[in-house]
Formats: sequence, C-alpha cells, structure tokens
Amino acid sequence: MVMQNPTDWKEFKAIDYLEEYYADVGPENWALLQFLARAFREVPEYSTVLDFGGGPTIYALISAANRRREIHVYDYLEANLDEVRKWIQREPDAFDWHEFISKALEAEGEPFTSYTVHKRAAAIRGQVTRVSRGDASQPYRAGTSTHQYDVVMSNFCADSVTDDRVAWQQYVSNIASYLKPDGRFILSTLKEAHSYTVGQKTFPAVFLTEHDLTNVLVEVGCAPDSIVIESVPADRPSRHYQGLMFAVATKLPLA
Ligand SMILES: C[S@@+](CC[C@H](N)C(=O)[O-])C[C@H]1O[C@@H](n2cnc3c(N)ncnc32)[C@H](O)[C@@H]1O
Repeated sequence: MVMQNPTDWKEFKAIDYLEEYYADVGPENWALLQFLARAFREVPEYSTVLDFGGGPTIYALISAANRRREIHVYDYLEANLDEVRKWIQREPDAFDWHEFISKALEAEGEPFTSYTVHKRAAAIRGQVTRVSRGDASQPYRAGTSTHQYDVVMSNFCADSVTDDRVAWQQYVSNIASYLKPDGRFILSTLKEAHSYTVGQKTFPAVFLTEHDLTNVLVEVGCAPDSIVIESVPADRPSRHYQGLMFAVATKLPLA
C-alpha cells in the first residue's frame, strides 16, 4: 500500500529537534545508547545496515560502526540529511556528537578517550557510504536503486510521522520490507505518546504499548521468539510521552 505522508515536514527544524532531544546524554539517551550497543554487539562484521528515518542525527550510527560494516541512511527530509552530511564532512557548524560518541563507547565497554572517540568518528565517516532520501510510505521494490539489508534500524520514525495506528503499522511494514530474510530489525518508538514537540511546533505520534510493538513485529514477519522489547521512562516532565521502547527481532527466512 502506498500512503500519503500526513505531516507538514517543512515545519520540522533540524536544529530545534537536535537541541531539544540531543543536547545532552540524559537518562533517555543513555538508555538508547546502551540498547544500541547491545543490539550491534550481536551483528556480524561486514553486515549492511540501513538507518531508516535517521533524521538529522548520527547517534544510532555510533555502535553500528563498531565493526567494519556498510551503513546507509535514509530520511524523507533533505534538510535533515544535510545535517548528517555536514557532520560527515566535518563542517564547522555541524552538530557536536562528541558526548554521544564518548557515552556510546562507554556503553560498549570500550575505553572512551579523545583518541577512541576520534577513531570511532572516523569509522562512522568511513562506513556511511550513502545518505539519501527514502520514503517509509513506500515499500522496498526489487530492481530499483535501493537494496535489502542485513540490519534495518529505525528509531522514532514510523511512530513519529502519524497518530494513526493503521498508518503506523503500514510504515513499519514498509520499513521492514528493506530487511533481508533472516535480517535483524532494530526499532525504537515513543511509549504511550500523544505527540512530541520540536521547538514551538507539535508533531503527531501514535499511542503505543509493548503489546502493540510485539504485534506489529509479528505482523511484519519477525519470528515471535526472537522479539525482545525493553522500556524506559521519559526523563523529563515536559515530554508528551511516558517513555521509550526499544525492540530487536529477526525477520523470518520466508517472510
Ligand atoms: C522524530 S524524527 C526521528 C529522527 C531520528 N531517527 C531520531 O532517532 O532522533 C522522525 C524522522 O522521520 C522522518 N520522516 C518523516 N516521514 C518520513 C517518511 N515518510 N519516510 C522516511 N522518513 C520520514 C523525518 O524527516 C524525521 O527525520
């Protein structure tokens, strides 16, 4: 099913978003980095990894780059991708991810010195070979310039583009279609969200629980016994959601 993107993304300001959610590594972001460190510990070297809806961020690529892998980033908004490109190209006004890299190394149990932070930043820059527009309203199509991947990761994308549960399920299904059979799906969502803010603007979010997340992963073809979900509470009262949910699952071989 091909869908319309219901949100006016011109209202989404990358810098406002980064400053609101990634200014520091508070309890939410620390939990997120720990989850990603655990998730990528299991991923073999040389795997291909897609971050779908990565937005203007690179935090999810830090542990993805902990071994030699090929990483692609897709997002709907060129302005968000430009923030990623700015960081990759070391432009002076790029967002500062130093603290996130340092904390991700800590989460992995690695030493976090200025040398290792620099080394991991270089690894990310070397392993991200594609930053391009991708639309989660459309499924993967064989024979196009897109690929299927060993790992598909999507953090706060499908649940942050609509407040409609059926549309959310379709977005997750489209994102999961980029996964090879037997591939690993890494999915983060807001928990029990009503909306989320970016600066003065409010964006829609789907109200979800762990039960909804389990169901959608089964529906999109993940092995039920492979699904692991964790939740953490929101770390400040200004949030319009109760917490974050983190899931990993393996796509069934014949899904
Ligand atoms: C809440 S942000 C999440 C960004 C990032 N993954 C993170 O963890 O902070 C939602 C992202 O979804 C992107 N997005 C919105 N509609 C999309 C679509 N149809 N396909 C792909 N990405 C989309 C937005 O541009 C934005 O970057």
